[in-house]
Amino acid sequence: MDLAVLAQRLAEAGQSHLLQFWDQLSPEEKEDLYSELESMDFTEINGFFENAMMTFTQGHQENVDARMEPVPREILGSVTRDVESLKDWEEEGLHCISQNKVAVLLLAGGQGTRLGVPYPKGMYDLGLPSHKTLFQIQAERILKLEQLAEKHHKAKCCIPWYIMTSGRTMDTTKEFFSKHKYFGLKDENVIFFQQGMLPAMDFNGKIILEGKGKLSMAPDGNGGLYRSLGAHRIVEDMERRGTAYIYVYCVDNILVKVADPTFIGFCVRKGADCGAKVVEKTNPTEAVGVVCKVDGRYQVVEYSEITLATAEKRSPDGRLLFNASNVANHFFTLPFLKDIVNVHEPQLRHHVARKKIPHVDTRGNLIEPDKPNGIKMEKFVFDIFQFAKKFVVYEVLREDEFSPLKNADSQDGKDNPTTARHALMSLHHRWILNAGGHFIDENGTRMPAIPSLKDGTDLPIKCEISPLVSYGGEGLEEIVKVHPEFHPTLVIDERGIHEQVSNGL
Ligand code: UTP
Repeated sequence: MDLAVLAQRLAEAGQSHLLQFWDQLSPEEKEDLYSELESMDFTEINGFFENAMMTFTQGHQENVDARMEPVPREILGSVTRDVESLKDWEEEGLHCISQNKVAVLLLAGGQGTRLGVPYPKGMYDLGLPSHKTLFQIQAERILKLEQLAEKHHKAKCCIPWYIMTSGRTMDTTKEFFSKHKYFGLKDENVIFFQQGMLPAMDFNGKIILEGKGKLSMAPDGNGGLYRSLGAHRIVEDMERRGTAYIYVYCVDNILVKVADPTFIGFCVRKGADCGAKVVEKTNPTEAVGVVCKVDGRYQVVEYSEITLATAEKRSPDGRLLFNASNVANHFFTLPFLKDIVNVHEPQLRHHVARKKIPHVDTRGNLIEPDKPNGIKMEKFVFDIFQFAKKFVVYEVLREDEFSPLKNADSQDGKDNPTTARHALMSLHHRWILNAGGHFIDENGTRMPAIPSLKDGTDLPIKCEISPLVSYGGEGLEEIVKVHPEFHPTLVIDERGIHEQVSNGL
């Protein structure tokens, strides 16, 4: 341990305060702090801070409104407006999967602070009849898709699943998968890798101490993906496996169509190197980022960056002009991803998130601030759209594909376990109805297809279909033919049909 050298480096970087409690630390604490600081590149971190703050200030001064252009129809595919092409695109996607050309990349390195559980979000039990977690649902969708591609093309195939975790979530995530035997997937096809962490800084660029010998560290955003892909040589692993296309998504969307063959097929048929799935924004004040063109390049513009007047603009057909809500589902070709990792990653600047960051004062007392006292620096996964040579957008239905788990349950809350669970059960209810089935109550009376509001029972019918039975609603006709009436609670899984008469939720 060469403390003098470390102290000198810290002094040069203006971060000497990190050693202010050195004499009060135990030998173990000293060792931990020393090794953490020793491995950090302060010149780089200070540079990140300066660039991030500069971009943040510029962003607030520039008027992005005037430079925004909506997504043109020629690069847009839509599940509602291109119905005649969907089968073709799906066929193409399934063919790519059957040729082992598709890999899936999951962003699961977030801290899930809003949900507030002390373990990774993917391990959350959503209270479904099956008590499946997000990880299990996603794993089973991958398994099912492999089976569908195999059936269509008579070729054994596999979809490798790359899972990005952070320092805080890696061990727990790996243990969970191992305990559950990778939910039926082969362990060599589930590849975990860890994203980077960055220190939180105060508004003057000083790294924040959350304890006398402990820095306040956080993952570097879901766009930390690109740097960590490089650090862990993941692109090389993809090349070795013959991957040509990568489907990227976030862990928190209960409805996510992992490796969606129709989306992949659409991107491949259009010759795109980068694609984004979106849902239609229908309310001008909805707090979502929209995909659009700015200065001729595609990007996501956050709701906070535009005025209400721009958010309210409408096209001649009555839809919002900027209506392509980003749902963090992306398609990349391998050469595009490789270019990002090897060439463009250093050009991506961190975004600034102003946060209330617990810290110690000069006496070492822990302070929980009641207003933002510093920043966390994050890159975003969509920051790379600007580098696409051929960018496409694919619009899907929110009720079929997007219901994220962000917050803990609360009354009238949004994006919480209840809304996620209801979204899944409501989708599966519609699958049953569309396959020709229906539900009956405990008295044998047919239940209305649209739950009624008047008696407070506007809750979805409790109905869950295992991804191992159906990936996207397919294959249910045969079941419904022999069994057209169902009682809620209904679970259809690989073992059969399970009904349990119940009242409400
Ligand atoms: P969110 O921005 O919703 O963040 O992440 P979060 O960490 O899950 O939740 P909060 O904000 O702390 O409550 C969107 C997606 O990006 C991933 C998350 O795991 C989630 O899938 N993510 C986020 C990362 O992989 N790394 C990060 O550093 C941040």
